[in-house]
Amino acid sequence: MGLRLGDVAPNFKAQTTAGEIDFYEYLGNSWGILFSHPADYTPVCTTELGKTALLKDEFSKRNVKVLAVSVDQLDRHAGWVNDINETQNVQVDFPLIADGDRNVSTLYDMIHPNASATATVRSLFVIGPDKLVKLIITYPASTGRNFNEVLRVVESLQLTANYSVATPADWNHGEDVIVVPAVSTEDAIQKFPKGVKVVKPYLRYTPQPNL
Ligand code: BEZ
Repeated sequence: MGLRLGDVAPNFKAQTTAGEIDFYEYLGNSWGILFSHPADYTPVCTTELGKTALLKDEFSKRNVKVLAVSVDQLDRHAGWVNDINETQNVQVDFPLIADGDRNVSTLYDMIHPNASATATVRSLFVIGPDKLVKLIITYPASTGRNFNEVLRVVESLQLTANYSVATPADWNHGEDVIVVPAVSTEDAIQKFPKGVKVVKPYLRYTPQPNL
């Protein structure tokens, strides 16, 4: 069975464009994003890796390390990274795993045989500093992911890990958040000195607490 939210993200060693990596050592105490690509020298993947490189400062601001997976070999990765840098006007400086033996793809269930027998789908895992899986998204090969959405979710995950809040639909940085149902309104008023707006007993908002 594939991984589920809350599972321990399995560790692995892999050859990458930055040399051999032990996944847990690479992550250290950071958050991590492990994401797969159907193949090197493909157009959608080229834009996805370019976008990830472009958002480098946003990922590091949030203490997130990224690691890409593709089932091609290292020599192909090197040439493709040159193309990404050239066409997307970036400098890819995160590692790409050369997963020719499909070790990582299999460990993370990134090959969905009814979609493709050999290529990975677009899987993305967000892993917390505790090495538990916090988010799983799966897109088909034909649809590039929205990396601003990935950043938005990371911000929500980091916020909700530290405060008794949840984020509403379409929430963005700076907007009000929801007090979790486990906290009584009386306790919420103590916990959130910026104020609690009670719309219904189960629907209570407070300003984003970490600003
Ligand atoms: C791509 O990455 O561009 C791609 C890969 C497989 C099918 C369609 C697009």
